[in-house]
Amino acid sequence: MNAQPKPRARRAPIRRQRIGVWRERLWLPDGREVLLRPIEPVDAEPLRQSFARLSPEEVRLRFLHPITELTPAFAQQLCELDPATGFALVVSEPLPAGSALIGAVARLGIDRESRAADFALIVGREISGQGVGSFLVRRLIDYARRRRLDEIRGDVLEDNAAMLALCDRLGFSRSHLPDEPGMVRVRRSLRRGA
Ligand SMILES: CC(C)(COP(=O)(O)OP(=O)(O)OC[C@H]1O[C@@H](n2cnc3c(N)ncnc32)[C@H](O)[C@@H]1OP(=O)(O)O)[C@@H](O)C(=O)NCCC(=O)NCCS
Repeated sequence: MNAQPKPRARRAPIRRQRIGVWRERLWLPDGREVLLRPIEPVDAEPLRQSFARLSPEEVRLRFLHPITELTPAFAQQLCELDPATGFALVVSEPLPAGSALIGAVARLGIDRESRAADFALIVGREISGQGVGSFLVRRLIDYARRRRLDEIRGDVLEDNAAMLALCDRLGFSRSHLPDEPGMVRVRRSLRRGA
């Protein structure tokens, strides 16, 4: 008899309340309340604190190579975006920016010439496995659509099964990069009807 794939356990959805432009209060399945909002310059120090709590494996999967410390300059760079070419959302504690711990970050780098955006994200262990990663990628897709981009794409290590499964569920295709063994490029068209 053929083994049937196990049905995925149903998970309570994330509840949400829109409170502004790209700002939402979220209630996660575990009951935790968090805030989704665009990243702000004052997030640099909390971002450094969140980075310090990541495991080397989480850093490898997100940054694709080992980094031991988020320097103040790099953290500032990640938080001060040129809106023409960058957009980033954070999921934070529901406290004022600057004092709120950051649980997840998702970002887009926009290439206006090719009308495409590269994405990357990280969801900390404290809130992972509750749909936050999928939610963030959906929001990045919404944002890229509003910017009338044609494609969103990302590079994912081929051993990152959780991220590849997430991308599959959200309709991304996969291809291998000939020059970068071990890396999978995921892409999703944003054109009308795609
Ligand atoms: C990958 C990552 C973003 C997922 O975030 P998340 O908030 O846990 O994502 P979700 O809860 O939306 O989805 C996780 C899903 O992956 C599934 N999953 C977990 N481990 C898996 C694995 N090894 N193989 C396949 N699926 C897996 C979970 O069961 C869950 O599925 P479900 O939605 O059916 O319950 C997060 O784990 C992370 O930040 N990892 C480190 C950094 C990283 O990999 N970034 C991506 C680089 S672009």
